[in-house]
Amino acid sequence: MSDPFPRTDGWLHAEAVPLARIAEKVGTPVYVYSATALAERYDALEAAFEGVGHLIAYSIKSNANLAVVHDLVERGAGVDVTSRGELFRALRAGADPAKIVYSGVGKRDDEIAAALEAGIKLFNVESRAELRRIDAVAGETGLEAPVAFRVNPDVDPETHPYISTGLRTSKFGIPIQEAVGAYAEAKALAHVRVVGVDCHIGSQLTKLRPFGDALARVADLVRELRDAGHAIEVIDVGGGLGVVYDEERPPSMREYAAVVGDAVGGLNCEIILEPGRSITANAGVFVTRVLYEKENEDKHFVVVDGAMNDLIRPALYQSFQRIEPVGPPRSELRTVDVVGPVCESGDFLAKQRRLPALERGDLLAVRSAGAYGFTMASNYNGRPRCAEVLVRGGHWAVVREPESLDDLVRGESIPGDLVG
Ligand code: LLP
Repeated sequence: MSDPFPRTDGWLHAEAVPLARIAEKVGTPVYVYSATALAERYDALEAAFEGVGHLIAYSIKSNANLAVVHDLVERGAGVDVTSRGELFRALRAGADPAKIVYSGVGKRDDEIAAALEAGIKLFNVESRAELRRIDAVAGETGLEAPVAFRVNPDVDPETHPYISTGLRTSKFGIPIQEAVGAYAEAKALAHVRVVGVDCHIGSQLTKLRPFGDALARVADLVRELRDAGHAIEVIDVGGGLGVVYDEERPPSMREYAAVVGDAVGGLNCEIILEPGRSITANAGVFVTRVLYEKENEDKHFVVVDGAMNDLIRPALYQSFQRIEPVGPPRSELRTVDVVGPVCESGDFLAKQRRLPALERGDLLAVRSAGAYGFTMASNYNGRPRCAEVLVRGGHWAVVREPESLDDLVRGESIPGDLVG
């Protein structure tokens, strides 16, 4: 896969469009996505699973922009949602409800009802208490809920603790040893129909072994459940395939597919995949402009107009994302911290980074920002959320306008009298 953000004549581009032109027209900060890169990554995953009955349910939490989701849906993707808002977005983007799966530990009654009424493919159930609620809501709406339990195989995904979900001590799923009892309970309920087993152990996995170990346990469970008389037709293997931010060497999509195939391919089930980051992360950049440079003691700071409210990953996970000047690099490299205007010391995009000299007004591009960038943005410090742009070849469009100051106070009021 060629770099969707090449440097041509010294200037960084999104496909064939200069990032500087987008920044000029739309303002900064701004997220820029490559439609070609999104399609290539989606198609590569499709190709890796060719010959295996499967559904790619794109994990919308990684990048929920309607244009992005629409492009993937047009290529045949389903969607993995985790809230009523994500369900709404998926449907708005044109997703087929019969390809939507719903995961998440805290589904509310109204969310369950909305998903039932939409006619989704699968509820990934995270506790027995939730199973009973789904059964009750399905009974009230006169619909039957297709369910899989999310089982927790107690495998260490060897990733950041905040994005590890498959350990025994995590809040997700049910312990795999308790699954047989939980499925027996499900079978006895009138308004749920058991169709499968689900498992997602974490995100940004760069090794294959945790996937293989977890799915081997899932395969054993599927055999056990079938012996107990359950019709298991689908196995949802979750998402989690890692990407290159820096020096990581994540498995290729083909290597990943081989491990999934070895573990669960022979069970005559439809395989559901829930990839997020592996499709979107490296299809996006975050572009920000230099405001000031300053030295405090022996530290050199580059203050930019993008902040932790726009891109929280560095602050929240101490994650590394490459940063480079959009224009031709000026000569010498210095060690700097790239920080935003938010009033927190945790507000940084990069620490101790080697960057060439910069001047006020220069643009910087933060790489690998297509996943968990805009979707995690907030209005903290009274900062409107920025624009999103989609590029295809030499063409581009604003796919989300920047928020206005009025957007910041929408729905708020100063009451005359308090009631009650
Ligand atoms: N399925 C389920 C049930 C999930 O919880 C997740 C991610 C995915 C699929 C997609 O995983 P992916 O393919 O993107 O690894 N904000 C963090 C990542 C949180 C992941 C949450 N769950 C970050 O910026 O690194």
